[in-house]
Amino acid sequence: MTSSSPLLLLVLILALSSSSPVLFVAARAGAGNYYHVAGSRLTHIRMYMHETFAGPNATLIMSVPSPLGGNATFGSVGVLDNELRNGRDRQRSALLGRFQGVFAGAGQVNPPGLVSAINLVFTAGEYRGSTLAMLGPVLAFGVPIERALVGGTGKFRMARGYCVMTFLETTSPVSLVNQLDLFVEMHPAAAY
Ligand SMILES: *[C@@H]1O[C@H](CO)[C@@H](O)[C@H](O)[C@H]1NC(C)=O
Ligand SMILES: *[C@@H]1O[C@H](CO)[C@@H](O)[C@H](O)[C@H]1NC(C)=O
Repeated sequence: MTSSSPLLLLVLILALSSSSPVLFVAARAGAGNYYHVAGSRLTHIRMYMHETFAGPNATLIMSVPSPLGGNATFGSVGVLDNELRNGRDRQRSALLGRFQGVFAGAGQVNPPGLVSAINLVFTAGEYRGSTLAMLGPVLAFGVPIERALVGGTGKFRMARGYCVMTFLETTSPVSLVNQLDLFVEMHPAAAY
């Protein structure tokens, strides 16, 4: 992996253009509206995703660069195993789980058009042993990224909802942190 790989450059662009405060307000507004749907109840889970995008301990790798070369992202594939923590300060926060997934550049006409399939794997805390499945696009960088929570296991059996991911800051030359706000409709009766 080189520092000039297109997807990594896009990650950096994401890192340098954030709008985090605005996003969370929008997410809360959405949740507020959803509360009025009869019989539904949303649980808000906030976590912080810590990503190391280069170096020996990288948690994101560009496995397949675009065969089109240059700065193209179409056809590229990457894999992530980022950390989920309960705080934005990596040293002072507890590991809650992993943000594991694959993404591919599927935007030929309008890049990046990333397709992402991600498992939120909880290894500690209230949801230890449970997972959430998340699907969704990354149509643009520098804006909040919203994805669908399409199901889960353990305490998240039959769960659904959405996740809004907001870039917070770079934490070193090779790492960054995003805030994750999950709004999940739980189905406790389905949990064991
Ligand atoms: C990578 O991780 C190892 C093991 O935790 C650590 O000793 C090393 O300092 C890390 N390297 C960098 C560049 O962070
Ligand atoms: C890639 O993008 C950078 C920044 O926009 C630009 O300077 C460079 O010429 C591009 N490279 C190619 C091969 O298109």
